[in-house]
Amino acid sequence: MLVIFGASGDLTARKLMPSLFNLYLAAQLPENFVVLGVSRSNLTDEAFRDRVVYESDYLKEKTKDLKASKVKSFANMLYYEDLGDSYDTDYSGLRKRVETLKEEYNTSGNIIYYLSTPPTLYETISQNLSNAGMNTQNNGWKRLIVEKPFGYSLETAQELNKGLHKYFKEHQIYRIDHYLGKETVQNLLVTRFSNSIFEPLWNRNYIQHVEITNAESVGVEKRGGYYDKSGALRDMFQNHLLQIVSLVVMEPPIGADAEEIRNEKVKALKSLRIMTDEKELFENTIRAQYVSSNVGGNKVKGYREEDGVDPNSTTETYAAVKFYVDNWRWHGVPFYVRTAKRMPTKVTEIVIHFKKPHHQIFKGSEMQEMDNKLIIRIQPDEGILIKFGVKVPGQGFKVERANLDFYYANLAETYVMEAYERLLLDAMQGDATLYARADEVEAAWEFVDPILNYWKSGEDVRMYGYAAGAWGPQNADNLIDDDGYWRNPTENLADDPGYCVIC
Ligand code: BG6
Repeated sequence: MLVIFGASGDLTARKLMPSLFNLYLAAQLPENFVVLGVSRSNLTDEAFRDRVVYESDYLKEKTKDLKASKVKSFANMLYYEDLGDSYDTDYSGLRKRVETLKEEYNTSGNIIYYLSTPPTLYETISQNLSNAGMNTQNNGWKRLIVEKPFGYSLETAQELNKGLHKYFKEHQIYRIDHYLGKETVQNLLVTRFSNSIFEPLWNRNYIQHVEITNAESVGVEKRGGYYDKSGALRDMFQNHLLQIVSLVVMEPPIGADAEEIRNEKVKALKSLRIMTDEKELFENTIRAQYVSSNVGGNKVKGYREEDGVDPNSTTETYAAVKFYVDNWRWHGVPFYVRTAKRMPTKVTEIVIHFKKPHHQIFKGSEMQEMDNKLIIRIQPDEGILIKFGVKVPGQGFKVERANLDFYYANLAETYVMEAYERLLLDAMQGDATLYARADEVEAAWEFVDPILNYWKSGEDVRMYGYAAGAWGPQNADNLIDDDGYWRNPTENLADDPGYCVIC
């Protein structure tokens, strides 16, 4: 049984239901399966089904060519329980409902509680589940899935973990990070550890620097209220991007077991050099906000004019950080990681820049300026690209750069699951590999906390501006100066910087 707290909210309709529906169509759901939506809205089972299935904009496309009976049998698996005014209440009514459904669907007592509520309610809900005896595992397993943000700082993350651990054991807690559900993020592990051609080069002897870009073309949309209290570093960097960093940095695990992989990720996160000195923070971190501009002929609001945003806000919509990893493998290799809203395009990619050949034979060839790169595209145009030198036909040894590429799109026969689909299925099967463990989250906060503190009250801290639709503030280029320039990728993996579409 899947019990969703916060079931009348946006995430349930937007992400959870479409994922469950896909799993249903692919016959991946357990045979005896039922969903109970729980929240404070006064809804009947029927009204809930209308909201999240029959009248949902997020299922329209998926259901339009299906037989009504097919959709109905999905909707009939969904039930709803109104908790009344508050999540902090006696759950004995809820327990009764769960037990009735358990009998009816013969679900054998295995339950996932999905907390799709503000994090301030996580401990309250866990406590009330515990008071009602709903967290005991003597009659089927109980698992808890929680959404980010996991804390607002190291201290609050530790409090949250402690709060949850009072009622659930760590192995019962699944902290969702939807980037880990992306095929291309998982493929990082496979690229690194199922090939013998990359790993020998994956270290300070061959890698010059690592660049990770996460760009979104949208602004804060309707989430100004949430975002203004969060900012790019908390919203994307502390979780999704540091998860990616940990997969790039980690040592090979002994095996593919969840704990083995997560142990290595924690070790990787703990090896990031924490910056505490103000000068170091000034030189290696940049924050900025988008300002109003014209994009594609339309006037786009600046961040401070967005709904829900304080007109004097100092919350960053752009964050770039240069850092080092203090371990044997990565000593002296700079990492450049940036994330932002209102960039020219939506793209996430990792670029591994290799060192130039130690001895230059083909002098005068442009190759001297062009490093070998391995580009791992998380989204869109998912794939992998290697840039390497080839001889230009003709006299002499003129070298040009060529592409060796792989695109996921070429695997047309393979159905790529949505992140939430994969993650929900994993949680049902008890596989926590793609979920963040408490110590991982805390290690990430340990690195991020001093940057946030510096940005909040550092002496020379600056907030830069960038025109909406541009690649961030100009001085972000200075950050990477020693190692060249940002790749500024486009929608297509193989396009080189400088490529642009005028209209
Ligand atoms: C979320 C952030 O976690 O990730 C959003 O809160 C962001 O601000 C989103 O837009 C990006 O996810 P994706 O999968 O579209 O890259």
